Amino acid sequence: MTPLPETTVPETRLLPADPAGIDAAAATLARGGLVAFPTETVYGLGADAANAGAIARLYAAKGRPAFNPLIAHVADLAAARRIGRFDATAEKLAAAFWPGPLTLVLPKTADCAVAELATAGLDTVAIRVPAHPIAHALLAAFGGPVVAPSANISGHVSPTTAAHVQADLTGRIDLILDGGPVHVGVESTIVGCFDRPTLLRPGGVPSEAIEAVLGERLARPSAEAAAPSAPGMLASHYAPRAAVRLEATSLAPGEALLAFGSQTLHGADRAAAVLNLSPTGDLAEAATHLFGYLRALDAKDARAIAVMAIPHEGLGEAINDRLRRAAAPR
Ligand code: TXA
Ligand code: MG
Repeated sequence: MTPLPETTVPETRLLPADPAGIDAAAATLARGGLVAFPTETVYGLGADAANAGAIARLYAAKGRPAFNPLIAHVADLAAARRIGRFDATAEKLAAAFWPGPLTLVLPKTADCAVAELATAGLDTVAIRVPAHPIAHALLAAFGGPVVAPSANISGHVSPTTAAHVQADLTGRIDLILDGGPVHVGVESTIVGCFDRPTLLRPGGVPSEAIEAVLGERLARPSAEAAAPSAPGMLASHYAPRAAVRLEATSLAPGEALLAFGSQTLHGADRAAAVLNLSPTGDLAEAATHLFGYLRALDAKDARAIAVMAIPHEGLGEAINDRLRRAAAPR
């Protein structure tokens, strides 16, 4: 990983997400500071969406390429309508899935408050109304849109606890609101409300559920076609330090095992470490454990992390997407 530029944050405060913590976090955002907070999907790193200086510091803190646009988080649908133009598809999806782990990419309104730097110069904006009570309280207290990528160093595994955020970003951001472990565990599903509704990233709302509401299939851009509209979908992403080997049917000496279901693998008794995403084969449980277990196995300094096959339906689509990127050549 290339060294990150120095930042000027003297101290990263960790506060419980009680009313005093939420007030401190809202005040920090208003001053142009950087605040990590829980959402139902993963912890986000928030900045005032209207403050270009704060957004520039956010990109620097994450080491994120500035061409990669951010999601604007708002407290409710009324606030979303002030920044994005809703067509019939967007109306249906917002009614069905907000608040919740769905992000809509919409044309910007004429007076959209989100800074150009956050939308990477696109004429669209990605919007999400998170369902987490702490995220909602923070957005309501702050009173404007908050851009928030996942609160990790760019390209690294996404954080599902405050401790994960501390491990990546201590000394680089102002404040972390600790709201305990998250409930979904993979990022939001991103749908582009274009001529045809398009799945830009699988995530916490299964694509089957979205297609059922729309009564039509989502378009799925090819990997190359997705690059300009969702540059966050870089091939290598969510990556632990160790190599990741997918669809493992046996274990090589020195490997750690990320298991799924009740089957035992040949060689698993000699594994450097074993964690099971869900012994009962429950995909929602597997999603909540995915990023935390990748971090935990990475800490074992194994030769590689071998991952058992995971079904592709429901949340399995998002889990397999993140694993493919974790395994991609760096
Ligand atoms: O669950 C989530 O979505 C989390 C939590 C914190 O809300 N956030 C998150 O943000 O995953 P991030 O920055 O890691 O991913 C944002 C994705 C990127 O793939 C980016 O390219 C895409 O959203 N994106 C943002 N604006 C876009 C736009 N106008 N058009 C297409 N894609 C966009
Ligand atoms: Mg991310």
